[in-house]
Amino acid sequence: MIVSSTTDFREAARRKLPRFLFDYIDGGAYAERTLARNVSDLADLSLRQRVLKDVSHVDLSTTLFGHYQALPVALAPVGLTGMYARRGECQAAKAAAAKGVPFCLSTVSVCDLAEVSKASPAPIWFQLYVLRDRAFMRDLLAKAADAGATALVFTVDMPVPGARYRDAHSGMSGPNAAARRLMQAVFKPSWAWDVGVMGRPHTLGNVAPVLGANSGLEDFMGWLGANFDPSIQWKDLDWIRDQWKGPLIIKGVLDPEDAKAAADIGADGIVVSNHGGRQLDGVLSSARALPDIAEAVGDKLTVLADSGVRSGLDVVRMLALGAKGVLLGRAFIYALAARGGPGVSQLLDLIEKEMRVAMALTGVNSLAEIDRSILAKVDR
Ligand code: FNR
Repeated sequence: MIVSSTTDFREAARRKLPRFLFDYIDGGAYAERTLARNVSDLADLSLRQRVLKDVSHVDLSTTLFGHYQALPVALAPVGLTGMYARRGECQAAKAAAAKGVPFCLSTVSVCDLAEVSKASPAPIWFQLYVLRDRAFMRDLLAKAADAGATALVFTVDMPVPGARYRDAHSGMSGPNAAARRLMQAVFKPSWAWDVGVMGRPHTLGNVAPVLGANSGLEDFMGWLGANFDPSIQWKDLDWIRDQWKGPLIIKGVLDPEDAKAAADIGADGIVVSNHGGRQLDGVLSSARALPDIAEAVGDKLTVLADSGVRSGLDVVRMLALGAKGVLLGRAFIYALAARGGPGVSQLLDLIEKEMRVAMALTGVNSLAEIDRSILAKVDR
């Protein structure tokens, strides 16, 4: 199969993965309206074509949190990545490093901090969820520092897990989930072989010590609900700020007031995100929330964005709306599931190529020149 877009990677991933995993990646909360709008609100933004502006030196590089990047993108934290390809977190981290962009390791990854930082030729970012067990969180932060993580991404939009109907139907959550998943998995031998589910036992590396008897994969959403702490408030973030000396990025901000609160607690960055439409269906798409947030705090901290980005054009659109960097979620996961690390490299090459074309045809040579003026008047 010839793969030349995220749509192709998505189809290849759908064919390869057992249904419960594909639906887990692909799906969103409730009726998936926000998930759909994340994609369509971005895709609907018209760019302003400009010509004859000498675009022979288009430069995509940037510096985020003190580190040079070849592209203004990072791979988003995605749970269970080692279930989509063998030691998937390590494969994706290597591909990101080779391209000169950060890989962010999720709290709920299969490969743990030590394994991924050892495999990756470049430093990684680490994403932390709010767990009830604060002593354990402190331990994880220490491990992240030991592993040389250059940024902490603290995800705040999951005080409770969202309701995802596809997961209930497919066997990712709910009664008898494990049995239904096993049935689907045996019909996908190429996936089982690739991922190695029949050999090395899969568990969630970073959180293995708090998993108890079950592996965390038995009832993943149930485990999240039981271990995540919904009582956290902005004032509790002082504690994180004290524990973590490096750059702190708050992920899951969708409102200017919350963005200001993030600036007030001394965060270095935020990710404007609705978790890829996986939490509260019906909230604004990131593309619609981003401009007001960038306006409110763009001069105080680094505004990143994700949710709905499926191409290099979408990256440029997010930058035009005020982001300084963009996280790729499903886009890289489809590629990883379809083709492993080489798939992620291919995806990043595609994103780069599409960004170059978009910048050349909107008449800009550097990221600093990208602002709302590259959007057509109707969308400015
Ligand atoms: C996620 N996301 C996520 N975020 C996070 O902070 N920690 C996590 O463990 C996960 N896990 C996760 C699993 C899967 C399968 C998906 C698709 C997403 C959210 C992720 O970081 C990012 O915000 C979204 O994926 C962005 O939306 P798009 O680009 O996928 O539409």
